[in-house]
Amino acid sequence: MNILVVGGGGREHAIIKKLRENPTVERIFCLPGNGGIARDAECFAISSTDIPAIVEFAKTHPVDYAVVAQDDPLVLGCVDELNSIGIPCFGPDKKAAIIEGSKVFSKNFMKKYNIPTAEYEVFDDPEKALEYLKTARIPTVVKADGPALGKGALVCMTRDDAFCAVREIMEDKKFGASGDRIVIEEYMTGPEVTVLSFTDGETVVPMVSSTDHKRALTGDLGLNTGGMGTVAPSPYYTKEAEKLALERIILPTVAAMKAEGRPFKGCLYFGLMITADGPKVIEYNCRFGDPETQVVLPLLKSDLLEIMLATTNGTLGDTRVEFSDGAACCVIMASKGYPEKYEKGFVITVPDELWDSVYIAGAALDNGRLKTSGGRVLGAVAVEDNLRKAVDSAYEKVKMIHFENAYYRTDIGKKALAAQNEV
Ligand code: AMP
Ligand code: GLY
Repeated sequence: MNILVVGGGGREHAIIKKLRENPTVERIFCLPGNGGIARDAECFAISSTDIPAIVEFAKTHPVDYAVVAQDDPLVLGCVDELNSIGIPCFGPDKKAAIIEGSKVFSKNFMKKYNIPTAEYEVFDDPEKALEYLKTARIPTVVKADGPALGKGALVCMTRDDAFCAVREIMEDKKFGASGDRIVIEEYMTGPEVTVLSFTDGETVVPMVSSTDHKRALTGDLGLNTGGMGTVAPSPYYTKEAEKLALERIILPTVAAMKAEGRPFKGCLYFGLMITADGPKVIEYNCRFGDPETQVVLPLLKSDLLEIMLATTNGTLGDTRVEFSDGAACCVIMASKGYPEKYEKGFVITVPDELWDSVYIAGAALDNGRLKTSGGRVLGAVAVEDNLRKAVDSAYEKVKMIHFENAYYRTDIGKKALAAQNEV
């Protein structure tokens, strides 16, 4: 079988490496991929948001199945377009991808179906939003309705910050038309847990839980990023939290999407906060998380391609999905300065024996040499039988990988280990 993967980061590298474990997989094409993914797939310089070019590629290459891994193409309807030329896909259609594409949709959806989330108000007029904020509870969170590269949620610790957030999003259009509408929501507290779930629209199978580290700098300082490291399983996802999340959030969400005429097929990402009142939804995403995938898929014992095909065919209920009892840690090595200004073009050296556990995100080939080309450059991943060992082993690997201007957090997994009383 030949597979087309749409996307080009560490998440896609992790998906591709896992798909390679299936002996029936022959060619894997990746659009656009990157210099590291090129070791494991045939990469072509087609943007993941250029849907007509992706469709044209699929028409002119022997593609049997497509995995649309990234949010933007999913929200733009890449799956619908590929389906229309007869190519089955892993991933939701446009109607279902709206669960990530519009915060207003997802908040109204959760309210309608009584799914626990932060209290909120929706505004399409900045004056009304500013008026509301004069008496709103602080801290508060201001979110752009539409996609904003993961940067559309502004946590405001003061009233002035909240006024600024509304002006930036609605008046200065920091995120373009994504800020035509906003959600202002209650500030919640508690540890964050990601639960990725396979679903065929009817059956839902949660994967092992994980926890991301969103801030750029060690000690949870600096700006929010796409994610600087992850651990799995998350110690915050206790048996009790898991039971409540399943009953109140995961099963009702999949059933409600079906009831809305938007059955969700693919990977549904539940971003949860474990509050004093139980788990609540921070956000839904319509795809695998990055860098959550880099710790979740290495723990998957079953065949990824079989599971993916089952989500497409509606046979997930008959498919084995098993995770190992071990633990995994991913440490992201970034370019110093990320997520703001950084230099690129530095040669990356990875010892041969580490390639199996390195997932490349921002690197390009230049005359056969792998050089940095993005903010998050790569993730070093270790799988061990417990979290302590996985964290130590991931940092051992990081020390063996080199590029100029490399930056990584030194505390990935530290809080998780403390929560497990292992520190
Ligand atoms: P989002 O883009 O919705 O995932 O939000 C990015 C980050 O902002 C989350 O990972 C949380 O750390 C934080 N956040 C979002 N919504 C809330 C909320 N209602 N209360 C507290 N923190 C939040
Ligand atoms: N790691 C957060 C995300 O993928 O959205």
